[in-house]
Amino acid sequence: MAHIKAVKWVTKDKRRKGVFWPSEAMKKRAWVSDPGIYGKAARDQVAFWAARAEEGLEWKKKWINAYEEKKKPGAFKWFLGGRINASYNTLDRHIRSGRGGKTALIWVPELPDETTKRISYEELHRDVNRLANSLRRLGVRKGDRVGIYLPMVPEVITSLLACARIGAIHSVVFSAFSGESLKDRLIDAEAKVLITADGYYRRGEPKTLKESADIGVKGTGVRHVIVVKRTGRKIPWNKRKDMWFHEAIKREPDYCEPQFVESNETLFILYTSGTTGKPKGIIHDTGGYLTQAYWTTKWDFDLHDDDVFWCTADIGWVTGHTYGCYGPLLNGATMLMFEGAPDYPDPGRWWKVVADNGVTVFYTAPTAIRMFIKFGDKWIRKHRLDSLRILGTVGEPIDEEAWLWYFNKIGQGRCPVIDTWWQTETGGTLINTLPGIGPFIPTVAGLSFPGTRHAMLDSQGDEVGTGETGFLVQKPPYAPGMLRGVHRNPKKYFETYWSRFPGYYDTSDGAKRRKDGTIRLTGRVDDVMKVAGHRLSTAELENALNEHSLVRESAVVPKPDEIKGEVPVAFVVLKDESKASEELKKELVKHVDKAIGPTARPSFIYFVSDVPKTRSGKIMRRILRGIVKGDSELGNLTTLMNPECVKVLHKTVKKG
Ligand code: WTA
Repeated sequence: MAHIKAVKWVTKDKRRKGVFWPSEAMKKRAWVSDPGIYGKAARDQVAFWAARAEEGLEWKKKWINAYEEKKKPGAFKWFLGGRINASYNTLDRHIRSGRGGKTALIWVPELPDETTKRISYEELHRDVNRLANSLRRLGVRKGDRVGIYLPMVPEVITSLLACARIGAIHSVVFSAFSGESLKDRLIDAEAKVLITADGYYRRGEPKTLKESADIGVKGTGVRHVIVVKRTGRKIPWNKRKDMWFHEAIKREPDYCEPQFVESNETLFILYTSGTTGKPKGIIHDTGGYLTQAYWTTKWDFDLHDDDVFWCTADIGWVTGHTYGCYGPLLNGATMLMFEGAPDYPDPGRWWKVVADNGVTVFYTAPTAIRMFIKFGDKWIRKHRLDSLRILGTVGEPIDEEAWLWYFNKIGQGRCPVIDTWWQTETGGTLINTLPGIGPFIPTVAGLSFPGTRHAMLDSQGDEVGTGETGFLVQKPPYAPGMLRGVHRNPKKYFETYWSRFPGYYDTSDGAKRRKDGTIRLTGRVDDVMKVAGHRLSTAELENALNEHSLVRESAVVPKPDEIKGEVPVAFVVLKDESKASEELKKELVKHVDKAIGPTARPSFIYFVSDVPKTRSGKIMRRILRGIVKGDSELGNLTTLMNPECVKVLHKTVKKG
């Protein structure tokens, strides 16, 4: 068990209050501790990343050209002509170097009396190869899409890597999304096979999943469904389509020749919410993505051979892909996966998992931290957290209180908090401090990762001054892990990311640069919400509500929430106002559950007769956002077609 001696290594900067720096001991241990790395990487970004790709990964064939950018916005490529395989780099490589017996995955089941599983690189390799053979047998070929709709069980890692092994493209759908949501994604991705489970455990209770998977595959091109047995409950079975995961792999050989692909070929598609009602299939390439995954994991979390890395994100989100699978495994690390809810059987569970397994690097979201603050410190005091070395956070801006609590209570004042800013689209982290360099400042993410550059622009596209908030953009050459397209929708790719500020990648986030050069994120500038760290689109939710037969139209906006960061609030205009009732609210919530999933549930629903609109009929969400926040100053209302409704809405929201 990896155990790091507790050393008090973070000291307060005497000159600036609230700024923390690494100790000499940390600097000595860290992979990078010389701030000169930033300047060095900036002198030739392409050369910097090319050196990283060469040092960090094993290529079957080296690239001909490290980077190419066409005139067409968003058309760039990394490592052209290079051939690589993600499963080979995460598994075979470590086995060849004699590390096959090392634990790749510690899986902690939710049920406290069930045994923790430790899976070595060799064992994982065997299962991945078998499943890869099985997928091939089912007719899955290079470039084909495989849907993955799995809870946090070890088979989820096996599934991702098995797809990668044969050059198939995985598309994971968050297991808490509804069957309907799954269906939309499977259709868009044109998936041939789906891997799912009979169910999973949540707060000690077995939950169903296969039933939603069946709704999801109906009417799609999915020909085979591979089912992981987790709960053993009776489930609907379709003899023509369904097969058990354990049976499918049992009869397969232990080796499957990896399919090396050209670096720019797609490794995976992950659907994410944008400003429109339909989720976008974000395309990630292979070589560039793996390069960024490898190095950001290694440097951000200062990952060494004796570390135990726990990223709490679900595999359904990009964080689960990069830091709960590819990044740690590329580094040959031991990573931990926990199946269940953080507070089951009690709110000390996560800390028990840390203590029992000697977790050294812990990566979570601000929403979880805020929840633990609420639970109270006594749940932490019950467990020894001395093994922790480094803490990370991601998903939304972290407030000072949560940062300091995390730093003082979980990190016991000796672990840096690495606040990592990034997106599904960027593939890996892009703005954060490095543990051996610092500084660690509450609410400040830090500097652009070496070899990348960002700027903040005003609406005209000019850079704003220090301390001013602007639109955060990335400058070329773009980071190797960046998205390469939107599946089956090049127009959307261009319009969303490359059209507003020509010559830059548009993040849709706001940010400001401080005097010391570090960056503070200020939140999304579009209609995307972060609810408990989960990315949701207001438009998607509105679409779901509008589909209800009694709804004429709806407008959804985020409302600040103490724990979840933001929660969705829905203003609903009914076709017949007399139908408004508490019952109908409940029905609408159920309707959202079915269309998207419980994570998208509106926290408040207001039945109203009108929502503020421009003269051209566009809903003014800015005004609604102000109303739910209780702002009395809502700015200019003269452009509204129906300014009179604003007063009424204020009253409705106040009444609750
Ligand atoms: C937000 C999650 C502030 C941001 C990896 C971004 C953050 C969106 C941070 C992407 C952070 C993520 N500080 N905001 N450290 N990390 N965000 O695609 O608004 O689920 O655009 O990717 O989360 O969310 P996504």
